[in-house]
Amino acid sequence: MMKVHLPFFSITSLFWCVFISIFLVNTLVSLPFPLPHQIEILLAFKKEFPSPTCSHTVLSSWTRNTHSFDGVVFDNETGVVTELHLSEACLEGTIKNNSNLFKFHHLRYLDLSYNHFENYSFPFEFGILSNLEFLNFRYSGLVGEVPSSIRNLSRLTFFDLSQNELTCGFPLIYNLTKLSYLDLSYNNFIGTIPSSLLTMPSLLNLDLRQNGLRDPPENLNSSSSSRLERIYLGRNLFSGRILEPISKLVKLTSLDLSFLNMIYPINIVFSPLKSLEYLDLSGNSLSRHNTSSDHALPKLTELTLSNCNIFEFPKFIMTLQSLEYLDLSWNNLLRLNTSSGQALPTLIRLYLSNCYIVEFPKISKILPNLQHLDLSNNRLKGKVPAWLWNLPLTRVSLSHNSLVDFEGSPEALVNSSLEMLDLSTNAFGGPLPTLPPTIDYVVASNNNFTGELPLSLCIPRKLSFLDLSQNSFTGPIPQCLGGSINGVMNLRHNNLNGKLPDVICRSGSLTTIAVSFNLITGKLPRSLANCTRLKFLDVRGNNITDTFPFWLNALPLLQVVLLSSNRFYGSVSSPQHTLPFSKLQLLDISHNNFNGSLPSNYFVSWSTSLVNNILEDYRQGENRRDQFRFHHSLSSRYEGRDMRFGNFLMYLIGFDFSGNRFEGQIPESIGLLKWLIFLNLSNNGFTGHIPSSMGNLSNLESLDISRNQLSGTIPQELAKLFFLGYLNMSYNKLTGQIPQGTHLNTFDRLSYEGNTNLCGSPLNKSCQEKNGATSPQTQQLKPPKQGHVLNSKAATIGYGPTLMMFGLGIGHAVALDRTTWFIKLLGF
Ligand SMILES: *[C@@H]1O[C@H](CO)[C@@H](O)[C@H](O)[C@H]1NC(C)=O
Ligand SMILES: *[C@@H]1O[C@H](CO)[C@@H](O)[C@H](O)[C@H]1NC(C)=O
Ligand SMILES: *[C@@H]1O[C@H](CO)[C@@H](O)[C@H](O)[C@H]1NC(C)=O
Ligand SMILES: *[C@@H]1O[C@H](CO)[C@@H](O)[C@H](O)[C@H]1NC(C)=O
Ligand SMILES: *[C@@H]1O[C@H](CO)[C@@H](O)[C@H](O)[C@H]1NC(C)=O
Ligand SMILES: *[C@@H]1O[C@H](CO)[C@@H](O)[C@H](O)[C@H]1NC(C)=O
Ligand SMILES: *[C@@H]1O[C@H](CO)[C@@H](O)[C@H](O)[C@H]1NC(C)=O
Ligand SMILES: *[C@@H]1O[C@H](CO)[C@@H](O)[C@H](O)[C@H]1NC(C)=O
Ligand SMILES: *[C@@H]1O[C@H](CO)[C@@H](O)[C@H](O)[C@H]1NC(C)=O
Ligand SMILES: *[C@@H]1O[C@H](CO)[C@@H](O)[C@H](O)[C@H]1NC(C)=O
Ligand SMILES: *[C@@H]1O[C@H](CO)[C@@H](O)[C@H](O)[C@H]1NC(C)=O
Ligand SMILES: *[C@@H]1O[C@H](CO)[C@@H](O)[C@H](O)[C@H]1NC(C)=O
Repeated sequence: MMKVHLPFFSITSLFWCVFISIFLVNTLVSLPFPLPHQIEILLAFKKEFPSPTCSHTVLSSWTRNTHSFDGVVFDNETGVVTELHLSEACLEGTIKNNSNLFKFHHLRYLDLSYNHFENYSFPFEFGILSNLEFLNFRYSGLVGEVPSSIRNLSRLTFFDLSQNELTCGFPLIYNLTKLSYLDLSYNNFIGTIPSSLLTMPSLLNLDLRQNGLRDPPENLNSSSSSRLERIYLGRNLFSGRILEPISKLVKLTSLDLSFLNMIYPINIVFSPLKSLEYLDLSGNSLSRHNTSSDHALPKLTELTLSNCNIFEFPKFIMTLQSLEYLDLSWNNLLRLNTSSGQALPTLIRLYLSNCYIVEFPKISKILPNLQHLDLSNNRLKGKVPAWLWNLPLTRVSLSHNSLVDFEGSPEALVNSSLEMLDLSTNAFGGPLPTLPPTIDYVVASNNNFTGELPLSLCIPRKLSFLDLSQNSFTGPIPQCLGGSINGVMNLRHNNLNGKLPDVICRSGSLTTIAVSFNLITGKLPRSLANCTRLKFLDVRGNNITDTFPFWLNALPLLQVVLLSSNRFYGSVSSPQHTLPFSKLQLLDISHNNFNGSLPSNYFVSWSTSLVNNILEDYRQGENRRDQFRFHHSLSSRYEGRDMRFGNFLMYLIGFDFSGNRFEGQIPESIGLLKWLIFLNLSNNGFTGHIPSSMGNLSNLESLDISRNQLSGTIPQELAKLFFLGYLNMSYNKLTGQIPQGTHLNTFDRLSYEGNTNLCGSPLNKSCQEKNGATSPQTQQLKPPKQGHVLNSKAATIGYGPTLMMFGLGIGHAVALDRTTWFIKLLGF
């Protein structure tokens, strides 16, 4: 398990800092005495960034009249702008070399992180802002070199350029004698680390992870000249030669040397580094490590040795008498032998996932104070020993093993101090054990638990996450359950029956209700309208008989509604009920008995709210935790291709109306949904032409209109759908030629079959006979440069429950990947 050590922020809070900071700024930053002249510059600066895709950003508040300038701090005496907090301000394009930004000569603080500058090189003009003390460009799309003018910023103490595409040698920053925090990670810097970087007079924190650095610093002299306390060198190309120079940095407290492919034996004791508290050696082979001296790292509290090719519990660990955190995951610890007799009373977190462990390690004596234990993805069999629950454990993951039962009574866990428990993907059977009242997060999915859902889950303190999906639970959903959860309730794939409880939310508590693939009957309880925090409703694959739930429209946050494969009936449009649901992003009403036609303006109101809402939601940190906690994996179902959305379903925009009895025309207003990624109208009775407005759905990746009664020709406009990866128009009454020389010809013949009067490639039937002459080749349209929106990125990001439970790396992973994906989704 990767542990990301982040200096100024605590590990898990980076994420929150990033997203929440905007709000603090919004509310805290006000303006005492702005100079009129400064206001003019601010307004002119705003004009440089029209940002048409964002409904409101920090900049929206900048108007001549309101006199409130979010994100701006004015000097309370002189009235000049001294701070600009513009993180995630939806700035796009470039900062030009004559930008008004460079007129703020008194600027001390500038945060431009998380904006959408594209292919934008760092303007030389930044050198003019010589009063800057804080400069943040994290994840903002910078490319090329850092200009030499940066040397002018001699007051800088904080400088973050991480997660850009900066390249070439090192920026000339040695004049920045006050710099204490420098982050150049996740860029393309190459070559040697200049030793003068390590000896900069004020530098305490240096992050160089994930660059192309190959050579260790040369001539690094007496250690005394370096003040460095934290250095992160992981994921570069140094090999073992880095160890010797690093060992001269005797003030180090944090050291990351992960994934350097070190080929030399590592002297793991790093004897000179007496102050080291944090050490990450993951991803280096330690099979030949040197552990000769004892008690060499007296202050070490965190040690990460995952992916280190370790075959035995390293004995030197028992000498680390300050150790609190130990990650040994992804090694081969089959013969885990901890019987050294010595105890490590300080150790409170132990990660042993993916280690081929076959029996529970006897840790109760040597780790008497253990709180977090991760034994996921091992080969544990049989029963969970009762002694485990005598440890003061609060977080335990046993997922992905072959465990069948709990030793002792069903009450064995009741007296434990568990807060989070993950039992998923084992072979547990029988009733769910009674959980202690401290429990907050329960995952027991993918086992064979049976019986009714225990009433003991209805605890007054409220669970934040309950996942009992893919078991064999029977009986009704207890009335009290929904009200006892303040977040996610996932009961998918069981044999639950009866109606959904009438009182499903108490004080709007649930954010996710997933009860799909059970035997639920009756109507949707109207009390769902009281679940004001609900974002995700999934009742697919039950036997619910009801009309379209227009009344869910009252839920302000609802994003995903999945009603597929039930017995819903009637019309989905109604003069009395206004659509849309204000935040809806995915609506699946397929395989029901809906009928009637869709009025021509059906999609009009939907079109306006969609994108703004996504952006808004993205900016708001609120409830974000829930989204990430809900690690469902709806597979290919919504794409027509094999992929998993993971948590990112929350940003998918799609409609599935297939398998109903809709008739009439496909509304022309469909073309207004320009962010639509997925559309399925197949297996209905739609008639008329394919609306040419569909050509505006430029983000569409999957389109299925097969098995209807559509007639006429295929509109030429559809050739503009460059992202289309799945297309099905088969079994309609389409006629004429498939537009030739376009993306539309790259699909399989099956996409078009069953239309007797359709011709042209890829169908075998040529159009020659009819036309007499070859129709002119359509203009070759070149696809834009972005890759597919919903492809591998979304598919590879799946935050498992373990990651969530132990809060590791999430902030980082999210900062890196989520933004990328999100930006791509919006087509920036
Ligand atoms: C201006 O702010 C500084 C610190 O931010 C404070 O010490 C000073 O008293 C303030 N001056 C006025 C006039 O409010
Ligand atoms: C500013 O950029 C423009 C082109 O973008 C260039 O023509 C001009 O010379 C630049 N000015 C300075 C002072 O660098
Ligand atoms: C980025 O800009 C440079 C020149 O400024 C250009 O050569 C390059 O093609 C651009 N790259 C992309 C991906 O737009
Ligand atoms: C450096 O800053 C000074 C003001 O402190 C300014 O006059 C000068 O133009 C700046 N130099 C560069 C290269 O930006
Ligand atoms: C940077 O430092 C060098 C000497 O190390 C000095 O010659 C130069 O003037 C400094 N540059 C700036 C812009 O202060
Ligand atoms: C280190 O010391 C050597 C000789 O003692 C000297 O030549 C070299 O310049 C020094 N390097 C640094 C970075 O101070
Ligand atoms: C191991 O460390 C000891 C003392 O630190 C040293 O004498 C020995 O040469 C090292 N062995 C290897 C293989 O590096
Ligand atoms: C839990 O604690 C209570 C009171 O301390 C005790 O009576 C009970 O036997 C304990 N249960 C188990 C399973 O240890
Ligand atoms: C689940 O448990 C039931 C009853 O205990 C048993 O009949 C069934 O075979 C089990 N299923 C699996 C997949 O183990
Ligand atoms: C919502 O809750 C209120 C108060 O608890 C209740 O009076 C009302 O009937 C509920 N609404 C629905 C639709 O159940
Ligand atoms: C669904 O419910 C209807 C009554 O509403 C019942 O007749 C039917 O058998 C149920 N189907 C299943 C599969 O449970
Ligand atoms: C829709 O189906 C219902 C029966 O479920 C029927 O009464 C109604 O007439 C149908 N409406 C249309 C427009 O076909």
